[in-house]
Amino acid sequence: MVTRTRTNVTHWEVQWTRRRKLIEEWRQHHRTVIHADDVQLRESGRGHRVGCYMGIDGGNPTRVLDAWVHELDRDTTQTVHRHSWDAMVFVVSGAGWSEIDGVRHEWRPWDALHLPAWSWHRSGVDSDTPARLMTYSTEPLLSGLGMAVLDDRGHTAIEDLPPRPEFTRAVEGDDVYARRVRRLAAEQEERRSGRLHTDYNDIPLLVNPKGTRSKFLVDRSIGNQASGITQVMLQFAPGRGQAMHLHPGEAWLYVVEGRGHSYLGEEPTGGEDHEWSQGDLVVVDHALWHQHFNDDPDNPARLVRIHAFDSVLETMRVLTYPLELFLEPPENLKAMGDLSEIQWPEDRRPPA
Ligand SMILES: [Fe+2]
Ligand SMILES: [Fe+2]
Repeated sequence: MVTRTRTNVTHWEVQWTRRRKLIEEWRQHHRTVIHADDVQLRESGRGHRVGCYMGIDGGNPTRVLDAWVHELDRDTTQTVHRHSWDAMVFVVSGAGWSEIDGVRHEWRPWDALHLPAWSWHRSGVDSDTPARLMTYSTEPLLSGLGMAVLDDRGHTAIEDLPPRPEFTRAVEGDDVYARRVRRLAAEQEERRSGRLHTDYNDIPLLVNPKGTRSKFLVDRSIGNQASGITQVMLQFAPGRGQAMHLHPGEAWLYVVEGRGHSYLGEEPTGGEDHEWSQGDLVVVDHALWHQHFNDDPDNPARLVRIHAFDSVLETMRVLTYPLELFLEPPENLKAMGDLSEIQWPEDRRPPA
């Protein structure tokens, strides 16, 4: 009798094992709320303290975005660096400045910045109050594509740094190569002229049918030319919540002010409530039904929502059509009642 030992593994088995492993590993990284006290800040070689809410370097691997916190003391000037990914900043407290490609932008609490890919940037503080900044970057996305590059030049003067990568502006012809060159040149021109700084007071607050009022901080609609990353401040009226909805993960909410809870779960089996307060990051890390509530009956809650909408989520929508990735049933919106009844307190940002 002949016995055969099979030593080769089929292509199908390799793929099956790889696919299963990815999701098994990914499930172990699910988080719901990262509490401010759980984030350790340490001195960095850039001249300030830094910690990680979400991201592989802080032990919470992500696929698209990461979330870091920075503290800068008086007389801090960070080292100047640039990277192939872009990032956005939210000023939690304090006053200071950021130089982006040598242009200085002064900021105060609740301002926001967009740091374009390949822009030289550094920040500093001249006043006695330390500043606290949240930053969100697309480094995980670029790492996934094998395109993440970081270049730190210490305290080199801006005039001694190389310029942004060069690009060809125009070529003659109507072949596909000429079209590509012209299309990419036009896109670069536009991308290098976007809004970099948002003064909190310059943007109107708009009432949202989901039950909140909101203000764009970094977004295409206010002139930012970002990779798709967006930041919006959501304000929850005293004792009020937001309509239940569902969308894909890596949509996070940073709690600027207030206390409340978020329901996150799968229907119809149900989910759990998770409490949050100032300085926490609420993590919607995969497609879950969720709803956020302000538990303070007297004061508003302010949360800054972050995701990579225009690029990553829109691509996922197209690639997975007809799967519906964004669900907001009309009855959930109707359940919010008459929003014109809400008494909104005056919107005033804290002093620096
Ligand atoms: Fe940076
Ligand atoms: Fe959401």
